[in-house]
Amino acid sequence: MSLARSFFRTCRAGTTSSPSVSRVPVGHFSTTRINHLQNTDKKSRIPEKEVPVTDYDAGHGAGHKHTVHVFQDAPHLLHNTPPVYQESEAVNPLTRDVYEQLPHTMRSMSMFGKTVIVTGGARGLGNHMARACAEAGAKNIVIFDANQELGDEAAAELHDKTGLPISFYRVDVRDAAAITASVEACVEKYGVPDVLINSAGIADSNIKAEAYDVAMFRRLIDINLTGSFLMSQAVGRAMIAARKPGSIILVASMSGLVVNYPQEQSCYNASKAGVIQLAKSLAAEWAKNDIRVNCISPGYMDTALNRVPALEAQKKIWKSLTPQNRLGNVDDLNGLCIFLASDASKFMTGSNCVIDGGYTCY
Ligand SMILES: NC(=O)c1ccc[n+]([C@@H]2O[C@H](COP(=O)([O-])OP(=O)(O)OC[C@H]3O[C@@H](n4cnc5c(N)ncnc54)[C@H](O)[C@@H]3O)[C@@H](O)[C@H]2O)c1
Repeated sequence: MSLARSFFRTCRAGTTSSPSVSRVPVGHFSTTRINHLQNTDKKSRIPEKEVPVTDYDAGHGAGHKHTVHVFQDAPHLLHNTPPVYQESEAVNPLTRDVYEQLPHTMRSMSMFGKTVIVTGGARGLGNHMARACAEAGAKNIVIFDANQELGDEAAAELHDKTGLPISFYRVDVRDAAAITASVEACVEKYGVPDVLINSAGIADSNIKAEAYDVAMFRRLIDINLTGSFLMSQAVGRAMIAARKPGSIILVASMSGLVVNYPQEQSCYNASKAGVIQLAKSLAAEWAKNDIRVNCISPGYMDTALNRVPALEAQKKIWKSLTPQNRLGNVDDLNGLCIFLASDASKFMTGSNCVIDGGYTCY
């Protein structure tokens, strides 16, 4: 055993005669370096049980010095109880007056004056990201969704709550011709969009690979992967033709990175892995056109997609495998969505941002 390693073990065992270096990860240090540390001037050492602090604030004036005491015994760890979630009903759009008072950093995080298309915006995560866009200053929001009733309701509600122009197009993201015509109509009405948020998607789970019906497999890939491509292609074409910079956000999943447990869902997982790689490929191709493409990969979220009786028992397992001990709330993607859509992330493209309560840590 090297001298350094043996010293580290002794320190960890608490028998060192040199307390001033007992917290240094000695495993990384050479013996010479340890000797140097041991000989360091005692005056420069910080006493173990307090942390010196200097505050610069209006109350105390410049340079107020005090100390914070360090407790040697760790306080009891709190039980990981999820906070009670309260969904916000109101949608308060950012006004010009407020926008103009914002400091530069906050302005760059807004979507002031932008036109946004959100697929799957009739409900769930897409709907809440659309609301967030309104609160962050979007000028117009266009919802693309296959569900006529929910789409109409969602668009009417968002318009009533915000006063913003909102349109709903009943579009199936598998239908290339309908997408092209609808994006052209949006361009005609609102101008070339600045942002596409692609949240439309479906999930199949608890289907063993050996029993997977091929028509179901193809349908899911068609909606989740090909649909993401067709939407990005139509909006990307419009941005390129107009030489307009833009941000495209594809909603993938942590299932594109890890295999979920305990349910079998090979097709969903493969579709989302495809979405992540699609985003990287588009990002690389369209960087020269000033179009950014990034992914949001959520963990388990508490939306209608998961509110099916067959999944109730499994949700307990999902929570237990999530360090935050909960499913994500329906608005838990909003902040990341606005960051990726706004100029605050302008040097970011081809990234896959996981937002999963820590699930993929294990
Ligand atoms: N809920 C989760 O736990 C979770 C986790 C990771 C990723 N995701 C992904 O997030 C996205 C949104 O999920 P959600 O939980 O909000 O689901 P959701 O079912 O609540 O909403 C999906 C929306 O997409 C629409 N849609 C479905 N097929 C369509 C099609 N062919 N064309 C157009 N619109 C279509 C639906 O009508 C619906 O409004 C999906 O891509 C999903 O895979 C969800």
